[in-house]
Amino acid sequence: MPAPIVRKTRQKKTPEKVSEEMPAADPVQAVVATPQKEVPQGAAVPRESMLPKTMQPLENIGEEIIRAEGVIKAFDIGTQMVLVLKGVSFTVTRGDFAVLFGSSGCGKSTLLHILLGLEPPTKGTVTFLGENIYDGRTEDDRAQFRKHHIGMVYQQSNWVKSLSVLENVAFPLMLLGHDKTTSLEKAYETLKLMKMENWANYHPMELSGGQQQRVSVARAIITDPEVLVADEPTGNLDYEAGQNLMYLLNDLNNMGKTIIMVTHDLEYIRYSKTALNMRDGRIEGVYRGDDKAALESKLTYKKADLSVLEKK
Ligand SMILES: Nc1ncnc2c1ncn2[C@@H]1O[C@H](COP(=O)(O)OP(=O)(O)O)[C@@H](O)[C@H]1O
Ligand SMILES: [Mg+2]
Repeated sequence: MPAPIVRKTRQKKTPEKVSEEMPAADPVQAVVATPQKEVPQGAAVPRESMLPKTMQPLENIGEEIIRAEGVIKAFDIGTQMVLVLKGVSFTVTRGDFAVLFGSSGCGKSTLLHILLGLEPPTKGTVTFLGENIYDGRTEDDRAQFRKHHIGMVYQQSNWVKSLSVLENVAFPLMLLGHDKTTSLEKAYETLKLMKMENWANYHPMELSGGQQQRVSVARAIITDPEVLVADEPTGNLDYEAGQNLMYLLNDLNNMGKTIIMVTHDLEYIRYSKTALNMRDGRIEGVYRGDDKAALESKLTYKKADLSVLEKK
């Protein structure tokens, strides 16, 4: 069996401030302070769906959540304007698992930032649940809108380093004004869904990359956002951890969570319901159903070809 990632149980390096804020009498602390079951590093996450325990009736599937229309983005880099997005239009509907794929530098992250309200488009509109998020709204409005409606996962998680896994996951709920006990309880439940509850009392940096990303997903969905947005979430992971993360996203999508994911790795197209091909600032193809199956079979064929070459 591979060596466990964490050899010691709870470390003593938690700053005073945190332990004051998190008294041992706290019920959630009492639950999670039970001895840790050591989980070997890189262990495969059992491939069992989370569906039966948590699935709610799926309502309003197919309702439009996000619409981008004619989005153009140019950056002024002093000497010249660089045109990064050249007129992007698409919609994401409730229940979708949209994977936006394209090579590095084609404008994927820029487009995501615009959808998230982080960067105004030079031209065009972004509509979220029927409301134009840039028209007559301040940055503050958009920050509020993100807190309530969007969960984000990046290639690298930005942890509050002084906080435990559990506290990091609870953080977005506390930002929304929920009390600490409720937030910590919900965080524990969410970690359980991710099969990460045994790590609740560790510091995020003590976890493997794959485990950190599972915790990032917990942090992203704890507020039950309308949409989970992931920018290259598997970018720092090895193949197996990447697949396990995709299984997790797939399960969440089956539970009704709308997902938008950006990747340069064609491998992940097969997890999507809608695959959008981005090239040089434009969406060149949108693939669903049979079209997507045809695209996937082409990609598989290419891979098979390559493996033949490699054997030579
Ligand atoms: N703030 C910025 N200022 C100038 N150029 C930028 C800025 N942000 C992104 N770009 C440029 O836009 C292009 C697309 O970047 P990005 O959206 O990050 O691509 P991707 O995520 O597909 O790799 C790149 O050439 C990048 O250098
Ligand atoms: Mg990017």
